[in-house]
Amino acid sequence: MRVWKRWWCLGQWLASPEHPALSTRQAWLTAELFGLLPDTVRVAVDPGFFADNYLQLVPLAAQLGVLPVPTGSGRNAPPSNEDIARVAVGALLDPHRHDGRAYRPTGPTLLSGADIADAVGEALGRPHRNRSQCGRRRHHACADHRVGPGAEMTDNQIHTQYSTGLTQPSIRQALRAAGKDLEHLRPADLTLLEDFHTMGRFATTELVDLIRITADMRVLDAGSGIGGTARFVADRCRCRVTAVDLSDEYCQTNRWLNRLVGLDERISVRHADVTELPFADATFDVVFSQHVQMNVAAKTRLYRETRRVTVAGGRLAMWDITIGEPGELDYPLPWADQPGRSHLVTAGELRAVVESAGFAVEHWSDLTEQATTTMQLLLSMPANPLGLHAFVADFAQKAENLTRALGDGRLRVIRGIARAGARAIS
Ligand SMILES: C[S@@+](CC[C@H](N)C(=O)[O-])C[C@H]1O[C@@H](n2cnc3c(N)ncnc32)[C@H](O)[C@@H]1O
Repeated sequence: MRVWKRWWCLGQWLASPEHPALSTRQAWLTAELFGLLPDTVRVAVDPGFFADNYLQLVPLAAQLGVLPVPTGSGRNAPPSNEDIARVAVGALLDPHRHDGRAYRPTGPTLLSGADIADAVGEALGRPHRNRSQCGRRRHHACADHRVGPGAEMTDNQIHTQYSTGLTQPSIRQALRAAGKDLEHLRPADLTLLEDFHTMGRFATTELVDLIRITADMRVLDAGSGIGGTARFVADRCRCRVTAVDLSDEYCQTNRWLNRLVGLDERISVRHADVTELPFADATFDVVFSQHVQMNVAAKTRLYRETRRVTVAGGRLAMWDITIGEPGELDYPLPWADQPGRSHLVTAGELRAVVESAGFAVEHWSDLTEQATTTMQLLLSMPANPLGLHAFVADFAQKAENLTRALGDGRLRVIRGIARAGARAIS
């Protein structure tokens, strides 16, 4: 055969006329068209899903801590661009051996999405998550089952639970490691590390969307942690927010971050106890309480105090963990390293104590399933330098214990919105 031209065609592993994807059918058609040309020889190189496709997602993984892979539960042996090129060069250097043939280059090993995520995590230099089950302390959830005054967490115990003495330097380091310029930080740069609750910013956004806050409203973030919700609300709703927390270290970090992102004029931070708020009656239109009551045994006092500082008709926005099925809990949990610091009740009890404090519940949903799936997905991804682990000690283990308990129903997560009735109950 007289050969005028040799074509080296880069196609697709799955290329066929029956494939459901148009682009894959087109890849098949293109290769066929070259094959129809007279005096022409075609060598087909049809790789599977390139390693490079995963590499395109690395910036996203570094930013969000999530590596979305399209292979589902399937496995793939991704070839590198270099290996694909080697096959092509081999065909070009020794054409007669390869004329009319087709090759399917693959990488050396079949990898699942989780394997790829681990490899990306290693390349990004993030510590591997320790999934060891050893050394966990176990405790029966029912032992947490208390309502009303009890062993309240003191200032000192809150300090022991949450403070590391390093919150600010750790966050500074994490921000720098993620390539953030601290002189020009924007609120969105903090998204991944500032929401200290289940489902992070996803949960905050959904709750804030439900509440509909306008710029003239006065908002309290009661038990604000390092201030994620306060900043999100102040930035997005352009309103004034007051943040209260019993951890002085968190309050200081909160003020520092507010300054860094230019929201310090809109947010004031007070070091105070949510069961004894330093505000006059009817000061706020909206009060956020997210993942705080789990540290508070005196729930009646907590919600009466919340009701007192809320205007009649104002709203309480809750995002909280409750007890579910009876069963032992594994510690540490994100809000308690040990059982004595955790004051959980059932969802029914929580709702009852909120109502008895003078609120009418308008929205109450159990989002345990959604939270479990989200948390499982987040935990399966390589850790991002900007996650809560940047400043929360042993965070991976805490999040894992929480997610497992949500998954099997020992814990539940509740979103609630309650409207303050006409009169505060003293
Ligand atoms: C799990 S963190 C949640 C922080 C924040 N609400 C968030 O969702 O990002 C719990 C926070 O509640 C605070 N806290 C616990 N008991 C408190 C109390 N009695 N008064 C004020 N803050 C309290 C802790 O200091 C901690 O910052």
